[in-house]
Amino acid sequence: MGKDQINAPKGVIEYVPPSSSHFEEVVTLLSILAKQFGYQPIVLPIFEETNLFQRGVGESTDVVQKEMYTFEDRGGRSLTLRPEGTAGVMRSVIENNLDRGQLPVKVFYTGPFFRAERPQKGRYRQFHQFGVEAIGYEDPEIDFEVIALANSAYQKLGLKQFTLQLTSLGDSQSRAAHRAELVKYISKLELDDETLQRAKLNPLRLFDDKRTEIQEMMKNAPILLDYLNQDSINHFEIVKKLLNSSSIEFEINPRMVRGLDYYTKTTFEFVHPLLGAQSGIGGGGRYDGLMSELGGQELSGIGFGLGLDRILLALEAEKISIVDNSQLDIFLVPINQEAKEFSALLAQVLRIHGLKVDIAYGNRSLKGGMKAADKQGAKYSCVIGEDELASRQLSLKNMMNEGVNVPSTISIPNLSQLEKIIASSNAVSQKGSNNLSNEGIELVHQIKKLLS
Ligand code: HAM
Repeated sequence: MGKDQINAPKGVIEYVPPSSSHFEEVVTLLSILAKQFGYQPIVLPIFEETNLFQRGVGESTDVVQKEMYTFEDRGGRSLTLRPEGTAGVMRSVIENNLDRGQLPVKVFYTGPFFRAERPQKGRYRQFHQFGVEAIGYEDPEIDFEVIALANSAYQKLGLKQFTLQLTSLGDSQSRAAHRAELVKYISKLELDDETLQRAKLNPLRLFDDKRTEIQEMMKNAPILLDYLNQDSINHFEIVKKLLNSSSIEFEINPRMVRGLDYYTKTTFEFVHPLLGAQSGIGGGGRYDGLMSELGGQELSGIGFGLGLDRILLALEAEKISIVDNSQLDIFLVPINQEAKEFSALLAQVLRIHGLKVDIAYGNRSLKGGMKAADKQGAKYSCVIGEDELASRQLSLKNMMNEGVNVPSTISIPNLSQLEKIIASSNAVSQKGSNNLSNEGIELVHQIKKLLS
């Protein structure tokens, strides 16, 4: 018997074949879309100095108070697995002087994030986000762009049932006016020490306290939207006007404060009704003071993080299947030693020329090989044995549409010609010359024609 099995840590989510290709396809689609909106990729470390998040995300948040994976490295530094992406992007933009170039800086990122939350469906300790940040432009048109990008992302994936909730948390002047009133209101409530402490750091936090008694107490609390100064009102009006003009539906949720401290002005959340308690499939907003808080210039920014794991759950709930680009074109089934070696080289040629090809490995019988081909879900299977090698003719069996199964035959080169094709293909790719051998051109042409 083997040793005790080791399982993944509690609360993480992983994607293994075949569903892993859906995950990857979603990321690919979102990356293409972000590029279409003029965003460039940024690849950042998964751990950062702890004080980046303390200062960036805010001491009053659940994320910083309870959910960070913080550890000391071998040099005694306090590091934290990133719980979110915005603070790291800001740190990198400042450190790499991107904010000294053309503005706005528009970047997108994807990868794992870490929060020690109580795991449940849709809430994980390691989860995945796709995010964008647009930094260095204050006007509301970019707020619209960022929200429209998130909206297009869900649409592009085929989701229909999501809704957009929107509010404004105002600029610093509006927030100060509101804070004064809110603190007065809170001072009359009977709160435990921990909650009072948290309210002292950021009184807005009480709006998203999940406890029903706190929600009840906050029912009549002053709402930020009522304290917006003219500038913040104008900004918000333009965002709403642009969303209306482009038929992006939204509802105003004046009690939304979001779980991170850096938000100002426009803030938003996308919610999916079929996901139960963990219904937030993405959210974001403007963060006017974050860059200066992290030691940079006084530049504002806006962005979002879409929860990839929840997007996949939403796709499942709406019964949407993502087109799977990983389907094999051809599955080769060699049935003797000579055919095994030939298949290895044939697969290499076909792969070099852009076809998706795999082989039935192992010493399989014809039946076993065909079973494997069926399981693989390839478009065509192709048995290679003594007869095929002698006649240099291969029959490709259509695995997708058995009904119209007219076997297609292609002529193949012999082993030494295959070697030549590989050599000339390598030369083509190294020198960029056009020197593919005739046999190579003929083989690739036949197969591409067949698959087109
Ligand atoms: P956030 O709202 O904390 O914002 O997270 C964004 C999204 O990540 C959520 O809407 C949710 O879909 C997903 N998410 C968060 N926590 C979990 C979890 N434990 N398990 C599964 N999914 C989760 C941010 O992180 C901001 N950095 C977004 C942003 C970018 N704001 C401005 N720029």
